[in-house]
Amino acid sequence: MAAITVLSAADIEKVFTVADALDAVEDAYRQKAEGQGVAWPMVYAAFEPGVADMDIRSGELAGSGLFGLKLTAWFSQNPAQSLPEIFGTTLICDNGTGAPLALLNASAITGLRTGAAAALGAKWLARKDATNLLVAGSGHMSTYMVAATLVACPKISHVEVWDPCKEEAPEARVELMREQVAGLLKAAGVERTYEIVAVGDGEKAAGKADVIITITPATTPIIKQAWVRPGTHISCVGADMEGKQEIESGLAASARLYVDDRAQSVSSGELEVPTKEGAISAADIVAELGEVIAGKAAGRTSDDEITVFDTSGIAVQDLASSKLAYERAVEAGLGTVAVL
Ligand SMILES: NC(=O)c1ccc[n+]([C@@H]2O[C@H](COP(=O)([O-])OP(=O)(O)OC[C@H]3O[C@@H](n4cnc5c(N)ncnc54)[C@H](O)[C@@H]3O)[C@@H](O)[C@H]2O)c1
Repeated sequence: MAAITVLSAADIEKVFTVADALDAVEDAYRQKAEGQGVAWPMVYAAFEPGVADMDIRSGELAGSGLFGLKLTAWFSQNPAQSLPEIFGTTLICDNGTGAPLALLNASAITGLRTGAAAALGAKWLARKDATNLLVAGSGHMSTYMVAATLVACPKISHVEVWDPCKEEAPEARVELMREQVAGLLKAAGVERTYEIVAVGDGEKAAGKADVIITITPATTPIIKQAWVRPGTHISCVGADMEGKQEIESGLAASARLYVDDRAQSVSSGELEVPTKEGAISAADIVAELGEVIAGKAAGRTSDDEITVFDTSGIAVQDLASSKLAYERAVEAGLGTVAVL
């Protein structure tokens, strides 16, 4: 017999902040670099290609005493039945006994852990004097990119949001983003001075950005090599499945390349297409970001380099974040315990 704690999105939102996500993901990446964390191969199945699919990302974080998985199910027709398009569920288990510990609504964590990954790319690889951030994409995830980067990179103060699919990121969307970012920073107890503006010209915005975060499902690159000036850091986040690509292959080839997981990046991340095209090879990847965090690999070596961090999303981010949320929730008396 085992007992498992079930945590709803509302439980998690009360105890898990953007600052927590940054700590958890940084620790998870470091553990992976030190051989304490492993991401197992992703399982993907399409029920109806382009309409409904699911993926399972799993792994172990030995340093945190855990293994587990996140199952993400995407059913695009759900909104017609007043259901969410995406259901995400994370299961964490004790790696000493196999006992299940907690079942969590993953949606409450995914945005925070994904924003944390993008922001850690900027924290560890951007120039130290970086102040201008461009976020390409104004969808659900973009808010988390902005909030996490403002927390991780205290010098970033000017944020531009560009939507490649629209002439201008809609002001109403950016106004909502301002409110959401302010709420996320307040929940984390972080006070910052910054501005977030909507822009319509991606080329101009990319040309003055110090840090670019791409967060779209693009399959045709949205950031062109000619747009990006020397010294820029780019965190590529949207490409998390085969066929997606957000920056031109030539841009990837011109950059110092970092990833969250070498194998996944070239099989289903941002570096998949450039690798298949022959613009780069897996050997061109300088390091996993965790190796930089652990002091095992060098980050940026000059102010003129373009650095790219490809995060296609790995289970250790979810495991570390879920463990922290679980511990905090138990301390706060939140969640429902079920006996299995
Ligand atoms: N790497 C990770 O860990 C991770 C985690 C979560 C989501 N994602 C990925 O991030 C991406 C964005 O997620 P979201 O929830 O914000 O999506 P969303 O649908 O809410 O927003 C998508 C944004 O991209 C724009 N867009 C849509 N199609 C485009 C195209 N073909 N070319 C350029 N821009 C396009 C939209 O106008 C919008 O601004 C998706 O690809 C998603 O799978 C990655």
